[in-house]
Amino acid sequence: MSVRQYIHPRNKYKRPPDYKQLAVMYPEFREIAIMDFVGKVRIDFKERKSLHVLTETLLKHDFDLHVNIPADNLNPAIPLRLNYILWMEDLMTHSKLEMDKVTGIDIGTGAVCIYALLLAKIYKCQVIGTEVNERSMEHAQKCVRRNELQDLIEIITVNSDKIFKDVVQTDRVYDFSMCNPPFFESEDNGFEKIVKVLPPRNASTGNDGELKIEGGEVGFVTKMIEESVEVGDRIKIYSTMIGRKADLVSLRRLLRSKDIKNMTWTEFCQGHTTRWGLAWSFLPQSIVNLTTAPVIRKRGKSIVQSLRNYKTSITFPVEDKFSCVDDIISFLRSTAEELNVKLQDLPVPEDSFDGWACQVTARERSWEHTRRKRRLAQQIVLKRAKGEDGECIEANTCAEETSKTENVTTVTTNPHEENSDKEIPDKDVPLLVCKLWVEAESLDDSQDVITQSDEILRMWMVFENGYGGLDALHSLRQYLINKLGVREKILDNPSKFKRKKKKTKESLL
Ligand SMILES: C[S@@+](CC[C@H](N)C(=O)[O-])C[C@H]1O[C@@H](n2cnc3c(N)ncnc32)[C@H](O)[C@@H]1O
Repeated sequence: MSVRQYIHPRNKYKRPPDYKQLAVMYPEFREIAIMDFVGKVRIDFKERKSLHVLTETLLKHDFDLHVNIPADNLNPAIPLRLNYILWMEDLMTHSKLEMDKVTGIDIGTGAVCIYALLLAKIYKCQVIGTEVNERSMEHAQKCVRRNELQDLIEIITVNSDKIFKDVVQTDRVYDFSMCNPPFFESEDNGFEKIVKVLPPRNASTGNDGELKIEGGEVGFVTKMIEESVEVGDRIKIYSTMIGRKADLVSLRRLLRSKDIKNMTWTEFCQGHTTRWGLAWSFLPQSIVNLTTAPVIRKRGKSIVQSLRNYKTSITFPVEDKFSCVDDIISFLRSTAEELNVKLQDLPVPEDSFDGWACQVTARERSWEHTRRKRRLAQQIVLKRAKGEDGECIEANTCAEETSKTENVTTVTTNPHEENSDKEIPDKDVPLLVCKLWVEAESLDDSQDVITQSDEILRMWMVFENGYGGLDALHSLRQYLINKLGVREKILDNPSKFKRKKKKTKESLL
């Protein structure tokens, strides 16, 4: 399966550049091109200079943009930058904003102000690029002048302890902000570690000022989110690129903890590099609704599927009440408390599993008491409504009645309880120990840009041990399905759902 299949559908580098043509047309590219014995032209990706020349040539050939990338600066790889820009275009279009009329802010524009140049050239939109590094700022300004884009692009220097505060004017509204933050923590040398551990596919480019920052990208984006709360809807859509999946997970949690629900994220996949985009807004969803915005998303096969223990799952499409993994986490925490069931968070390998996991330990079938209570409450309401007791009662007295009835019925009528008494081999052995893995998955094996309505939530239940065996696991599953209120929506076979959705989409065209 080609890694290029997940590149944005409008990204022109979905089809690799024709190096032979570039070598014929551009002498500087010819200098770095290597021809093999069957006449195929390639370049040496381990050479920093080759990467810079490739980017300069593509900018010239495909966008009529003329730049030179200083030797010690980051190589702004175009396929990734284009994926991010095309996603911003999708978000703008989804929000009914026209690209040639919008104004955007590019935080940390860099020596080549790559986003600003591409945005101005492709869409003619206004861009303000911010930079802390004086030398990068001057070089970026040179690039703007050389390409005669001064009318559209403004480059400004900002203070390093601020992100938006030096740019955003109180009487102006901006349509979007984008950012490619320095990824690495200034102290931990994560960059060198990665470079050392992995055999490099590509030469590393960029200097410490571009790649490292105190607190790493989480620190930088945390500051960005905190400032965005103050700036509010003066920027309609905030966005940032993220370099590590684990950071995406924690930053999405941070947004939710600040009650910022109008957000979305996507995966940018190109070549062998995967990055992520995160966007949020303070505007009401009636004006900008990021939760239904298009995303380019790819998800690998769930690692849970490779677990050997017996497993079953509860799978259903996302909906308002349960729109993401965090909603399920809060549901499970409160349910565990109600049922007096122990729930312990488990560490998950976040690079390959975007979700949450916990271990559940149950000593008794507490969920079955609750189910019976609910059934009895319903029976009482029905009886009373039919007038079997000869009088009408208010709904809020039912609970009291139910618990009285419950005391009587629990003594004899629960076969599970009778069984469980007999089943207990040792009072230290729990009824059930299982792991729950919660993940969101997108049904995205078509090459289309998809929306969040193509998403499903899945809760895997993996049996560990317990005297209640699989019977206890299944009865807990049934209880959770009822409590989630998704009985009608359970997807036994998500691929059927995917086909049905695809058919519906096609019939709408
Ligand atoms: C990873 S580079 C990205 C450069 C360019 N945008 C790109 O995508 O190639 C990060 C840039 O952010 C700049 N920077 C760091 N802190 C900043 C801040 N508080 N405000 C603006 N720029 C900042 C750095 O100097 C660096 O040029």
